[in-house]
Amino acid sequence: MFNDNKLAKTLGAQYPIIQAPMAGASTPLMASAAANAGCVGSLGCAMMSAEIYKQNFDACRAQSEGVFNMNFFCHAPHSDDLDKANMVTQKLAPFYEELGLGDVPQVKPTHFPFGAEMLEAVLKSRPQIVSFHFGLPPTHIVEALKEAGCLILSSATTREEAIDLETRGVDIIVAQGWEAGGHQGYYLKNESSKIGLMSLLPQIVDAVSVPVIAAGGIGDGRGVAAAYMLGASGVQLGTSFLTCAESEVARVYKDTLLNANGEDTEMTRAFSGRPARGITNKYIDYMRHLDSELPDFPLMNTLTGPLKSTSAKQGNSDFMSLWAGQSVGLVKEKTIAEFVEQLITETQSILAGK
Ligand SMILES: Cc1cc2nc3c(=O)[nH]c(=O)nc-3n(C[C@H](O)[C@H](O)[C@H](O)COP(=O)(O)O)c2cc1C
Repeated sequence: MFNDNKLAKTLGAQYPIIQAPMAGASTPLMASAAANAGCVGSLGCAMMSAEIYKQNFDACRAQSEGVFNMNFFCHAPHSDDLDKANMVTQKLAPFYEELGLGDVPQVKPTHFPFGAEMLEAVLKSRPQIVSFHFGLPPTHIVEALKEAGCLILSSATTREEAIDLETRGVDIIVAQGWEAGGHQGYYLKNESSKIGLMSLLPQIVDAVSVPVIAAGGIGDGRGVAAAYMLGASGVQLGTSFLTCAESEVARVYKDTLLNANGEDTEMTRAFSGRPARGITNKYIDYMRHLDSELPDFPLMNTLTGPLKSTSAKQGNSDFMSLWAGQSVGLVKEKTIAEFVEQLITETQSILAGK
């Protein structure tokens, strides 16, 4: 799979492996270590201003001459449902008190869909790859990025989304299974179709002519080889990179992942208002019955942001969004170079029938 791999050549990397963009968890240190290990290094830029994006991109470039993927969100505008926001504010007040945080803040958007200012910053920096989650920006933006030489990737969680993305000009599709850690990238329907990668991947591969990258629940060489057998041209791994040495997530997050199993994760809207998979904790338990009553993405983030950051600082995982995929039981604490080397060796020996 890795010798003379066509997709790797298109991506410009040594291996057709993407360290997943992870807003809030991927950093220049992680992305450049992945790029230096022969993979595509990614940054989740959804919460960044254009200025912060530029600083982060420059930091990546300063640490590696490898291939980088800058990732953005394209979510639909939220509705201002103040009744829902007021209801959640009341529910969260006791937690704000428990952590000594004072009043629950007013809701306001925290993640901004890709727009003109960010386009200008990206066109100036020209990363090799620009990827999107929750759909694609308008055609003129996609065209401007392609004219600047950027490859365009986006996530599909159904066959229909994959066909739609291909029609709209993406170069490569990331097939994201229901197992995946973090947010589900669905965008054509109001709810995720909940299809696992084993079923999703061959159906997307059959439906489109662009290369397909498999994402969700891949944690070692067995997963990479399986994705390859199902028609993937490459893989994207997120959770596995979170426990690596170069990951800068809180120690309590890493320790939770290192001690977790597949049955410890669940899909929840409780942190952001959109379904995302993470390790079950006190906050998710408490909010579970309210899952369908929450304000739209990304408004919920305003309400949960202070809870998440304060509990992380206190080394307390009760209120943190511990995003993780269903293969979390496979994670190890290694350097990214060691992890990637092991992934390659395992995959090659499986595919060689050893
Ligand atoms: C902590 C975390 C944050 C994530 N943030 C993003 C993001 O900002 N953009 C994106 O396209 N995908 C994001 N994802 C999803 C990943 O791109 C990918 O689909 C997923 O990690 C693959 O599943 P795995 O975690 O089981 O490897 C995130 C995943 C995690 C674990």
